[in-house]
Amino acid sequence: MGRVFFFTQKRLNYSIFYKKNQLLYGILNIVGGSLKTKKVKLKLKPNVVKYLKVIGVLLLIFLVCFIFYRKQISNITDLGYSEIAAKKILFDEDKEYILTVKENKTLNAALETDFYKAKYLKNYAKINFVDHKNLIKNINTLLDKGYSNSDVNIILSHGDDNDVTEFSKRERVRYLEEFYEFSYAKLKYYDRYLAYTDSTGEDEKTTVIHVNLNMDKTEYDDAVSVDKFGYDMLVNKFHALDNGFEVVDLISVPMDYSGGEEYKANRVAITALTQMFEAAKVDGLEMVVNSAYRSYDDQLELIEFYRKWYGDNYVNKYVARAGYSEHQTGLAFDIGSTSSKVFADSKEYQWMQENCYKYGFILRFTKKAEGITGYKSEPWHYRYVGKEIAEYIHTHKITFEEYYAMFLVK
Ligand code: DAL
Ligand code: ZN
Repeated sequence: MGRVFFFTQKRLNYSIFYKKNQLLYGILNIVGGSLKTKKVKLKLKPNVVKYLKVIGVLLLIFLVCFIFYRKQISNITDLGYSEIAAKKILFDEDKEYILTVKENKTLNAALETDFYKAKYLKNYAKINFVDHKNLIKNINTLLDKGYSNSDVNIILSHGDDNDVTEFSKRERVRYLEEFYEFSYAKLKYYDRYLAYTDSTGEDEKTTVIHVNLNMDKTEYDDAVSVDKFGYDMLVNKFHALDNGFEVVDLISVPMDYSGGEEYKANRVAITALTQMFEAAKVDGLEMVVNSAYRSYDDQLELIEFYRKWYGDNYVNKYVARAGYSEHQTGLAFDIGSTSSKVFADSKEYQWMQENCYKYGFILRFTKKAEGITGYKSEPWHYRYVGKEIAEYIHTHKITFEEYYAMFLVK
């Protein structure tokens, strides 16, 4: 009996087939006899046919299963899960729950890692995703320590991956919501917040702002070092210019606005100042620059001058130490009026109160802010910070220090 297979030479490129599949050729050759030049007859033994049939059926079953499996996987990936997560979900005993959660980036990330813990499945689903390398590992550690889902969300949103990793190593803290109610509270400063509020009795908001500003440290001695120029740079008693700091783009203040004196300042700041003075002129007002950029040595000289005349106490309240003055950045101007010797009494000062922010300037040292700026009120000292920041500070009636603590501190 047996079956006969015919192969024409045209259909079967013998040499390629032989190279590619020597084994199959061998089998065919044995069971089918010799291949002829024009037609090839293959006689298969009944047993072999049986095996081939079984193999065929198995292949078919495998193919159906595979298509079914791929379909299931794609149903899950369509919900927003990755291929890796989908493979785990398919065989997870909580598959039904996971599928009701639908797209969930934290759960997806958990399923993708080896740190996935089935007992935290529902926690993962309720914790906001952040793009941290150790996200799932840290979530597990925090949950192990007894933090709730909302605690974990607070922790994750107040630091980077490194901060969270460090924070998760420590004992569970007591005052999480108190400090981290404020979006700008830093995870890494928890101990400093606690120590500061204990020692000063300040409320949580003030504590967070002051510590963010380094005010829990000793002024001058433990100042943060500022080495890069920026229109949003903070220079004060707790933020000192580095020895290597280089001022950027210094040009002369136009003589029309300097009372004939030679002052220098940053180009962008001078452009804004010029526009501001021009606008004031249209309103019939005249202002003049009395001081602008001062080098480290200029500031030293100034300090000596004031010390001689007014003493140390005065200097500490009105004059920054060398290396701690905004004047060294090229972004600060002391402004006067031609109409009044006391700037605070002039129409120009009133005009500045209402308009300077439109040109990117802020009045830097106000009476109300003495506690945070560290200086007595200086109605004449204006700082260029750019329009966006100036407008925010004007609208929200805050100091540059507060703005910095909320939005700029790293
Ligand atoms: N008068 C301000 C504080 C300065 O010297 O920079
Ligand atoms: Zn000044």
